[in-house]
Amino acid sequence: VVDRLEGSSIILVGMMGCGKSAVATAVGEAMQYAPLDSDTVIEQATGKKIPEIFAEDGEDAFRDVESQVLEELCSYKKCIIATGGGAVMKKTNWGHLRNGVVVWLDFPVEVLAARVNADGTEGRPVLEGDSGTAQQLTNLLEERRVMYEQADITVSFKDGDSDVAEVARVVLDA
Ligand code: S3P
Repeated sequence: VVDRLEGSSIILVGMMGCGKSAVATAVGEAMQYAPLDSDTVIEQATGKKIPEIFAEDGEDAFRDVESQVLEELCSYKKCIIATGGGAVMKKTNWGHLRNGVVVWLDFPVEVLAARVNADGTEGRPVLEGDSGTAQQLTNLLEERRVMYEQADITVSFKDGDSDVAEVARVVLDA
């Protein structure tokens, strides 16, 4: 990890609602690293919002664009990159993610569900409707956990919610 940390980007992975984008901005400010958000770049590149891509082109098409965007973003040095929650699921993406130091923001499902419900689930096409968000996230996390565990560094927040500044501080310490 230390060898790869020299000037390498930091890549945040984790479930929807774990705060990757906000934490990327806060850590970027502290380290003078440029924050980048793969979902935002996907929306800029396609000219469509994420739910539109899912609805019009399908999830496979979204995942293909996501891989292309990750390949480019992860080739940059000294950036802090917020990935989409499903980015860890493709083996080829790990070839890109490993260009940086991969950090998993591990939050309890109850915290994730509360945040996702507060934002509204319409922007999150992998979830079906507003009910049972916690159960849906539990199922997804069960499928994905083994991949998140491949991160170089895990920062876990087991006891309730933590604000962005606190999470950023823990990431910086780690
Ligand atoms: C997804 C998470 C979203 C976005 C897309 C799919 C997922 O990003 O990439 O809706 O599969 O978990 P966030 O994790 O930023 O919400």
